[in-house]
Amino acid sequence: MFQSLESLGADPILGLMAAYRADSHPQKIDLGIGVYKDAQGRTPIMAAVKEAEKQILASQVTKAYVGPEGDPRYNDLVANLLLGNETVESLKGRRCTVQTPGGCGGLRLAAEFIKKARPDARIWVSDPTWPNHVPLLGAAGLKIESYPYYNHQEHVICFDRMMDALQEANSNDLVLLHGCCHNPCGADLSNEQWRQLKDLALKNGFTVFIDLAYQGLGDGLIEDVYGVRLMAQSLPELIVVSSCSKNFGLYRERTGALTVMCESPDALPAIESQVAAIARGIYSMPPDHGAAIVQLILSTPELKSSWDHELTEMRDRINGLRSLFVSRMKQAGIEQDFNFIQREKGMFSFLGISVEQVATLVRDYSIYLVNSSRINVAGINENNIDYLIDALGKVLESR
Ligand code: LMR
Repeated sequence: MFQSLESLGADPILGLMAAYRADSHPQKIDLGIGVYKDAQGRTPIMAAVKEAEKQILASQVTKAYVGPEGDPRYNDLVANLLLGNETVESLKGRRCTVQTPGGCGGLRLAAEFIKKARPDARIWVSDPTWPNHVPLLGAAGLKIESYPYYNHQEHVICFDRMMDALQEANSNDLVLLHGCCHNPCGADLSNEQWRQLKDLALKNGFTVFIDLAYQGLGDGLIEDVYGVRLMAQSLPELIVVSSCSKNFGLYRERTGALTVMCESPDALPAIESQVAAIARGIYSMPPDHGAAIVQLILSTPELKSSWDHELTEMRDRINGLRSLFVSRMKQAGIEQDFNFIQREKGMFSFLGISVEQVATLVRDYSIYLVNSSRINVAGINENNIDYLIDALGKVLESR
């Protein structure tokens, strides 16, 4: 039965993680997978997470099943974090949020749910988008279309072209938007652009579907959800998949959520039962540990404030690294303009170099980045920046 299977190439992002780990070069740099790193190059466990874990260990009395929708207290707190208490209140009876195994689990659950609701639905994804969006959503059997998003020459969003393409999206379609910190390009929609997209969704009747994996890592916990909240307040239906991997540093604990908003309360029981049945059919129920941590942090004022403080430090560090990178490239006399890196948000930006130049960085310098030239800015630090700039200078010269 298994003889005819072909081997697949490594995952474009996870493969880099494995290659980096296996590399013994003393100056290797990991700018590949999107995990936050501190000044020492470590991915720390946040202080609030450590403290919450201690408290959970001391107080937890059972490991009984949680159920396909996860912990309702976590679900409510996550909904408040995304939407704000007032919006949550105004959506009473029109919204449900369920815990998922990370953002990926949430995306797959959303895709299967969409397939149930509208088997021939099309999902429009940005060009470029996170490489896993297409396999994750496509595997549920949904048709994928793409809309232009990023102008690689000018390093800006090509908003007019995006809006032109989305004129074609209709009530059979969903448009996937990155809530903040666009992965891979780091170029985020302005508030005005979110408003124009909201008007287009209302006019054409497509459903907005938001992937929110980096809340708090762009401009701030509230600033980063301007678009999510605007859509929730204005549209009849909405899907939001959120992740606690990055903003709580809970990567391996697989902690995410799917939020679905519907037009009228009579539709909600069917939505809730369908989502629960799909979850049951794929993974039965989500893992508990990460969600228990988030639940405790968000419901305990001291833990919440410690978490918020550390998240602010992480965000400030990333933004500082963006400026540092740009100024060090200038100091090194590199003529190419990298100012856009300072304007972009979150962990990622494209360097804008060729696949061959990326391959040279990996092969000759053990500097790991995605083929598209996406870098994780958080992988830069004071100890590796000289080596990085020097290598980049050489690779750019040899263009
Ligand atoms: C990334 O884009 O590097 C992260 O979202 C990690 C992943 O799963 O791809």
